[in-house]
Formats: sequence, C-alpha cells, structure tokens
Amino acid sequence: MIKFKCLTGRRQGQVFELKGDCVVLGRGKDCAVCLDDEACSRYHARIVEVGGAYIITDLDSTNGVRVNGKPEKEARLTIGDGFVLGRSTFVFLSESGGPEGEDDSPQIENTVTLESVRKLCAQMGSADIEELRRVHGMMQAAYRLGQALSATLDGDDIYTLIAQQIFENFPAAERVCLFLRRKEDVGLELVRNVSRTKGEDAPVSRSLLRSVEAEQVAILASDASCDERFAAAESVVIQGLRSLMLVPMVARNKFVGALYVENSTRPACFKKVDLELLALLGTQAAFAVQNAFLYEDLQVSFYETIRSLSNALEAKDKYTHGHSGRVARYAVGIARELGLDEERLERLRTAAELHDIGKIAIPEAIIAKKGKLTNEEFAAIKRHPQLGVEILRPIRFLTPTLPFILHHHERYNGGGYPSGLKGRDIPLEARIINMADAFDAMTTQRPYNTPMTFQEALERCRKAGGSFDPACVQALGAYLAKGTWAQRVAEAPAAVPAEAQPVGQPGA
Ligand SMILES: [Fe+2]
Repeated sequence: MIKFKCLTGRRQGQVFELKGDCVVLGRGKDCAVCLDDEACSRYHARIVEVGGAYIITDLDSTNGVRVNGKPEKEARLTIGDGFVLGRSTFVFLSESGGPEGEDDSPQIENTVTLESVRKLCAQMGSADIEELRRVHGMMQAAYRLGQALSATLDGDDIYTLIAQQIFENFPAAERVCLFLRRKEDVGLELVRNVSRTKGEDAPVSRSLLRSVEAEQVAILASDASCDERFAAAESVVIQGLRSLMLVPMVARNKFVGALYVENSTRPACFKKVDLELLALLGTQAAFAVQNAFLYEDLQVSFYETIRSLSNALEAKDKYTHGHSGRVARYAVGIARELGLDEERLERLRTAAELHDIGKIAIPEAIIAKKGKLTNEEFAAIKRHPQLGVEILRPIRFLTPTLPFILHHHERYNGGGYPSGLKGRDIPLEARIINMADAFDAMTTQRPYNTPMTFQEALERCRKAGGSFDPACVQALGAYLAKGTWAQRVAEAPAAVPAEAQPVGQPGA
C-alpha cells in the first residue's frame, strides 16, 4: 500500500491510502490522485513500489518534483520524506500506517521550531536518542578540550590539559600517556605519563606504538591479556593489562603522536564509542600540539637571531665576551625576585641580550680602547642606547623592549643618560638591566679594571650613592644568595681574583 498525506491546499490533512504498486499523481482526471492545483502537470509524478522500496519519478512535469526541498527526477521515498508537486506538499507515510493521527505527522516546514524538534524526537526510537546523546557528549568533550587548549601555546600546559581532559572523559582510565614526535627523524617521546595506580616507569608496548604510528589506526582491547593481537607485546603480557586504547594523533596529514589509555585490572572498561571519543580528542590535541611545536620553533629561531646579534657585537671586543648573556641571566634573576610575570621576564631577557647592540655602530677603536676615553669618545659611546633603538626599531615584535634598551644607562638618582630620568620615571626593566649590567662589569675583566668578587661587587652596589634602585640591589642580593658563591662564580667565565680591586667605569 502506498500512503501519503497532503499538507497544503484544499486537501490539507487528507491521507491517501492506495492499493497497488503504482500511483500516478497529477491534474488529469484519470490519475489515481487527481490534484486540483494549476501548478501541477496533467501527469506530474509517479510513485511505484519495487521490492519494498518506494520510488517517486518526475513524469517530465512543467514545475518538477522536489523531495525534502531538493529537485529530483527520481528519488527513493522513506517515511517522513516530504515531496512537493506544483504547489501541493505531501508527506510520505509507510504502507503499514507510519505515524498515526494529526498530531504525530511530521511537519514539513521551511523553518525548524522547538515544536517540530519535539515531534521529531517523539518519533525517534530510544536507540536514536542514545546516539544523539553520545554524539552530543563527544562534541561537548571536544569543545571543552579545544577551549582549554586555545588558551595556551605552552607545550607543558598543553600536555597537562590533554591528560586532565582524558581522565575527565574516561572515568575508568587508570593511566594516560601522551607520546609525541617532534621531528620526522626522531622517535616517539613520552611527554606525559599520569597514573592513578602505577609508577611512572611502567612501560607502554613499543610494538603497539610502532603499529599505531605505521598504520595510523586506533587500537581497542577489551581484554588485552587474552587477545592474540597483543601476544607479542611483551609489556602488555608482563603487566597483565586488560582494557586499553591507543589512538594516533594526526594534524595536517602529519603524525604528531599517540594517546594511550589503560585500565590494567578490569576487562571491557572501554567500548568502541570510547575509542571514537578518544580519537576525536586526539585529533583536537594533535592540532594544539603541532601549533605549540611551531611556536617553539619560532621562539628558538628568535633567540638564535638575538644570540647572533649579541655575538656580532661581542666579536668587536674580547672583554665583553659573554656579557650580554650574563646580563640577561642576572636581569631575569633580579626580576624573578621582584615578582615580574613570565611575559615581562621574556621581554626583559630579550632587552638585556640586546641592551648594548647600538655599540655595533660605534668604531671598534673606541669600543675596545684600553686607555682612558677622551670626552669625544665617551660622547660617542653614550650614543649607543639611542643607536640600539634605531637598529631594532624596524623589528616590530621588539617594540616593547625599546624603552628598556634606550634607558638602560639612566641612574636612579638622575645622573645617567640619555634622558637623565630619575627614580620610578625610569622603566623598571631598564633599572634592572642597569643593575645587572653594572654588576657584570664589576665582576669581569675589563680594560679599565680587574674584577671584584660577587660579594664585593654587591657591597659596591649597595654603597653606590643612589645610582641604583635599592629594590633592584636588594633583589640582586636575594638572587645571588640562592646559590653558593662558587656556583655563581662558575656561571661567570671571567676569573674572580682573591683580592678586590677598585672598579673603573662600569657598564659604559
Ligand atoms: Fe650599555
């Protein structure tokens, strides 16, 4: 029996139940369903039953046949499908009756309303609803992970978030491992191994990891201890593992790593749906990890560039070899004591590495001169903060560091250069670099002085008559006190003499 219901026009609500396996619809009086619709052709469409399937065919009508909103020459009809002939809209019902009653009929509308969704849900079986819930849950989990990962580019944070989210989504998981491959030519590296029950040294089967990497397929074991696939996986056998899942992490067609989840004591903890969710989370995580790798590469390139600029400067003067690196280290140490956040620390580190870059533009004869500088020569030297800013200004991402470089020779008491700024008018980072710069000059060999011990230099800074920010001096002392003097001395390549010597013109 072919059964459908009219939803529009004068026949709205009429249900057609037609015996036989072929029905023709149109304006023609001899059609099985005669439509009083001028937009319909005389013989507009035919519905036939073939082996239990219902096919609607457009009989070369003027205005065509639309099924579920799409024009079709021929289409299969299933229960609930809407079809339009001319201006007449119908909903196809099953031969055995389909949805019964006015209120239960699917609504064919151009818009989706809460009411239509409610009716659709009412027609769905419990299995469909369960599937919808499952997919909804997966999308929520992927969304939560994506949201969390989007907040950071830090690798460590990302690895921790991934492990946390997996534990949250798989309550049966006892252990989560994250393996990553940073470069094509290196193997998988275990970057997270979080277990509720085991020590961190419990191995994960290398043969399983190899097969996930080679074939990029997900693996699910309901009871690995008696699964033939894992007979050769020594660590699985030795640990007597029961439930495990392993999925590849792939982003932009590149294998990034693998996610491993296990429950070593109970079988059948994970089902196929869990594997699908883990694979989805793995894909989400793969993109975040790959972005973090790219960011790390960018940072490395950046610091290599900074380092080569510093080296270019230090090559002009053997006495300042390693100076920029040490100033950066002291500056960051001081800044940590003062409580600066990581972002400011990184900017400070960069500025400290580059603080004297302007000296590249000053003649080597002046830079490396052993004797006392003439007034003209000293005036030339004093231009290096401004020259440094001019050199670095085209590099947009260094813009925030420029004030620190420009003012690193200001003195807290106002006696410095180039602007004669005083106290807190000097940017804090510039005060820190000034402190670190002077300290390194006092404690390393220079043409104009022999080095002091760290303790002597610190005392000199304390008694420097307001040249330095007292908070920076105190922070330097706290930083140095955290290591033994011997360790601190070892950090500085220059020899520290047993006896203190007077200091000359530090940090010019
Ligand atoms: Fe300087």
